[in-house]
Amino acid sequence: MSAISFQHVSKLYQGARGVLQALKDVSFEIEPGEFFGLLGPNGAGKTTLISILAGLTHATGGQVRVHGYDVVSQYAQARRQLGIVPQELVFDPFFTVREALRIQSGYFGVRRNDDWIDELLANLGLADKANANMRQLSGGMKRRVLVAQALVHRPPVIVLDEPTAGVDVELRQTLWQFIARLNREGHTVLLTTHYLEEAEALCHRIAMLKAGQVVALDRTSALLAGTASTMLQFKTDQALPPALAAQARVTGRIVQIKAHDAAEVESILATLRQAGCKVEDLEIGRADLEDVFLEIMQADAPAQPASPRPARAESVA
Ligand SMILES: Nc1ncnc2c1ncn2[C@@H]1O[C@H](COP(=O)(O)OP(=O)(O)OP(=O)(O)O)[C@@H](O)[C@H]1O
Ligand SMILES: [Mg+2]
Repeated sequence: MSAISFQHVSKLYQGARGVLQALKDVSFEIEPGEFFGLLGPNGAGKTTLISILAGLTHATGGQVRVHGYDVVSQYAQARRQLGIVPQELVFDPFFTVREALRIQSGYFGVRRNDDWIDELLANLGLADKANANMRQLSGGMKRRVLVAQALVHRPPVIVLDEPTAGVDVELRQTLWQFIARLNREGHTVLLTTHYLEEAEALCHRIAMLKAGQVVALDRTSALLAGTASTMLQFKTDQALPPALAAQARVTGRIVQIKAHDAAEVESILATLRQAGCKVEDLEIGRADLEDVFLEIMQADAPAQPASPRPARAESVA
């Protein structure tokens, strides 16, 4: 049985300017023990999908199950399987960190949980904040508490909606070590993030959402293998020749251009030379998930909203 199953999920929001379709026929399954990434640009529908999973909002159509439990008709059983770290910082300012975690334990009917609470506090670098009031914490520390709250009832499925937004480098590493350990111990993880190097390093499989539709769904390694594999990077102060400008990614002085093979690398360098474009610090490397992501997002939108098939078919494991 899947850990999470999304079947033909759609979501319409009624707004002042009419109806917005935030999700269109989203279908995929996440297996127990997977570390799964859900990626997409701002507004793609990631948080909407997670809110439906968490029972915070209802789908307009389709079905969502957690370990077989329907998130609407079997809400309590489904919710118990889930530990959810929300994107928004929501907290009760009147409690200390430990009180907040005890209350959350009580909500799930877990008693005498202090050993696990202490382990969570230690692993998330919060041990010395246990008795601090929630309103005295910095933004990054509040996010750590949200992670601890999500894990307090030892849920088999952990859902993290941009858990590292606004979090310092040290906590990111601590957090990922801890989540990776929980995943090795058998917990399923569903992660959304805009830090694509995190997703590339951690996720076994990735789904990409664009305007509410799944446009890619595959193992991370297959997604990386399916793109132009070489990336040229250099610095220049000059304008690129028009033939290259269209395919280049420019960040200040840094230019990145994709190539499929060595012949294409040579041809790009020849074009630069012929145009008299002086390049410095030339590097030739492997394309990464960010390149794959941009390539997929810049491709044309999938043909029909109702298409049951993602733009990239899932490869067989
Ligand atoms: N409560 C709501 N009412 C109306 N529209 C909404 C509501 N929540 C989200 N939307 C719209 O639905 C779309 C998807 O939003 P969602 O928050 O799911 O995106 P996201 O992929 O999580 O983006 P981000 O990366 O910025 O977090 C957006 O167009 C958003 O404006
Ligand atoms: Mg979001």
